[in-house]
Amino acid sequence: MDITILGIESSCDDTSAAVLRNNMLLSNVIASQAVHVKYGGVIPELASRAHQQNIIPVVDTALREAGISASEVDAIAFTRGPGLLGSLLVGVSFAKGLSIAHNIPMVEVNHLQGHILSHFVDLPDRQLPHPTFPFLCLLVSGGHSQIVRVDSPLEMQIIGTTIDDAAGEAFDKCAKVMGLPYPGGPVIDRLAKEGNPEAFRFSRPHIDGYNYSFSGLKTSFLYTLRDAVAADPDFIEKNKADLCASLQHTIIRILLDKLIRASKDTGIRDIAIAGGVSANSGLRDSIVAEGKKRGWRTFIPEFKFTTDNAAMIAMAGYYRYQQGEFSSLEVSPVARLEDLQK
Ligand code: KG4
Ligand code: ZN
Repeated sequence: MDITILGIESSCDDTSAAVLRNNMLLSNVIASQAVHVKYGGVIPELASRAHQQNIIPVVDTALREAGISASEVDAIAFTRGPGLLGSLLVGVSFAKGLSIAHNIPMVEVNHLQGHILSHFVDLPDRQLPHPTFPFLCLLVSGGHSQIVRVDSPLEMQIIGTTIDDAAGEAFDKCAKVMGLPYPGGPVIDRLAKEGNPEAFRFSRPHIDGYNYSFSGLKTSFLYTLRDAVAADPDFIEKNKADLCASLQHTIIRILLDKLIRASKDTGIRDIAIAGGVSANSGLRDSIVAEGKKRGWRTFIPEFKFTTDNAAMIAMAGYYRYQQGEFSSLEVSPVARLEDLQK
């Protein structure tokens, strides 16, 4: 029997709705919020206000593009967390309203599991390869950097995580120091293409196990800039491409070192990447190159599935629906991953 899921994502600064029939994507609508750019970061109050404005037209468009009405939806999958509480609240409340109005069950989704399960979404015009279980997923976003061992769609274990900043945060904070616009990740990606990745050396962490740390790199980047700018006020402008290339190179090497170790120790050679930072062209190329060398099967998401989207939420919702894991109307959003896992 076909199962139709409406996905709703509102955890940060993108309002998104998608319709999925089994694994097949019928629509995926994303409204990005330009309002944060001038502040150099996401302002939570402005984000939740923009979600409120966007959510009805975004869900409407997703249903229309899928060619269905709300009453044909079998379940509403929504992001319960982690994310910004006010933003999540808009999506959760909307899901409840729709659930009551059309008598449709609700399924809550962990945003990070959604990112990982985006690898199982099929597109109408082409078949994308799916990883086989168990696989390892390097999950790198603005808020999280993890190595996750995935044993089945709903059985995942975080075997490594950052003890301070996330990889995306390292990109964004270092970009800010250089006076680049927010979000810094895509800008650094673009500038890095013109630069020499060996031009500067920044410190790399020595952390046990598969865990990450990016705060030392950020500090070392900051000190390099501070000393250099003191000697030459135009230093950043003159060296922007080399700084971006060297920073990006360091972040990629930090991410890959632990991933390689995790693959060696577990013997798992199906390797996927997910999350906003998986849009990074240097990371994508390096994973593929590393995979060729090591006999990995690598799974690199389509660009539209790297940053926040509701297709991945609907996908995770589909698997939970199959397990009969429904949420009650009392469900509330949860900001922190640790609280979501309790
Ligand atoms: O997954 P995501 O859309 O939101 C969170 O759940 O956090 O990730 C956003 C992060 C930001 O830090 C952004 O700078 C980063 O993904 N990002 C990139 C690129 N595109 C987005 N980082 C590096 N290179 C990119 N091309
Ligand atoms: Zn995300």
